[in-house]
Amino acid sequence: MAYGADLNFSVYQPTRVVFGDGVVAELALECKRLGIERAMVVTDRVLIERTDVIQRVEKALGTRLCTIYDAVIPDTGVEIIDDGARLAREKGCDGLISVGGGSAIDTAKGMAIVITEGGSIRDHQGSSRLTRRQTPHISVPTTAGTGSEVSLYIVVKDHRAHEKMHFMDDRIIPDTAILDPSVTIGMPAQLTAATGIDALTHAIEAYTSINRNPLADGLALQAIRLIAAWLPKAVTDGTDKLARGQMLLAANIAGMAFNSTGVGLVHAMAHVIGARHGVHHGTANAICLPHVIRFNADELGALYRDVADALGVDARGLGDEMTGEAAAQAVAHLNSRIHLPPRLRDVAVPEADLDACAEASISDGAIVYNGKFAADKDLVLGVYKNAY
Ligand SMILES: [Fe+2]
Repeated sequence: MAYGADLNFSVYQPTRVVFGDGVVAELALECKRLGIERAMVVTDRVLIERTDVIQRVEKALGTRLCTIYDAVIPDTGVEIIDDGARLAREKGCDGLISVGGGSAIDTAKGMAIVITEGGSIRDHQGSSRLTRRQTPHISVPTTAGTGSEVSLYIVVKDHRAHEKMHFMDDRIIPDTAILDPSVTIGMPAQLTAATGIDALTHAIEAYTSINRNPLADGLALQAIRLIAAWLPKAVTDGTDKLARGQMLLAANIAGMAFNSTGVGLVHAMAHVIGARHGVHHGTANAICLPHVIRFNADELGALYRDVADALGVDARGLGDEMTGEAAAQAVAHLNSRIHLPPRLRDVAVPEADLDACAEASISDGAIVYNGKFAADKDLVLGVYKNAY
């Protein structure tokens, strides 16, 4: 779909991306570049107990390692961020190295704010409120999905209120992303599948966002192509380093795409069922994505033709709604190949709660970027029912 003369956008992407098998060994060099002499590693215990990744990080950091904070859990929370920041200040740490999935990276992004600005992460909720450079942050993603290593977003769960808090600020984009396929070896198949579809959702929602722009378009389509080609291989054989590397890149590229466009209705729905019912973010996206494509198709059919093409489906000559159907079926087929559940009922979302989920989704920040107007409770409820 062509752009008009009123095209207007801005893109800010300051992260150094370092890719390659074994590049985690270059951590000390990246610390030196950023002036980090007392690094805090932010990670989770599972990674320490079940893999050698943290040992490799310790070895790579050498004397620049100050301490390891291993309290990260899935869906990071306020206390985890505040406690980590307090410890980093007590120890005199001058930089953060997040190692793990999106939750570890988001924890360090939150800590970077609290270390520099003080208070609690709760005090800094909102958009573009920071006015100075934050604590230096290098991320080492061990999953291929969130794109958090290049994004300006943080998602923090308020575990008491069952709500997710969102932060958006250019100044929390990590300084460096170390993309090393060897640290993602051994990620369980189900997690590989779910995080991979999260990345696919970022790319498709970026491409169909109201903020779509030519820079993000190219990134989004490339990410979709990589995911269609490599995600099934990465799921089937967790030791396939080539597939792992291609998925790390795809997630990173998709992260850069949605960083300038926002996401859309799929995320508005997934955030809510994640917060209210504990459904994994990627799995929630996987279930909702085909149904949102069908909902959007009458207005965004031309864009879904490109999406279908990137997924390897020829939708030339089809009308808008049939094009959307072809793209939706391609996504559903990919989901089933990698054994993700197709329906909300399969992940224990109660049918009686769909109404409340729809109500909550229309106030989620992602919904405003959806390429077709969706911020209406009845419209969203209809999509939830189709996904049920
Ligand atoms: Fe996501």
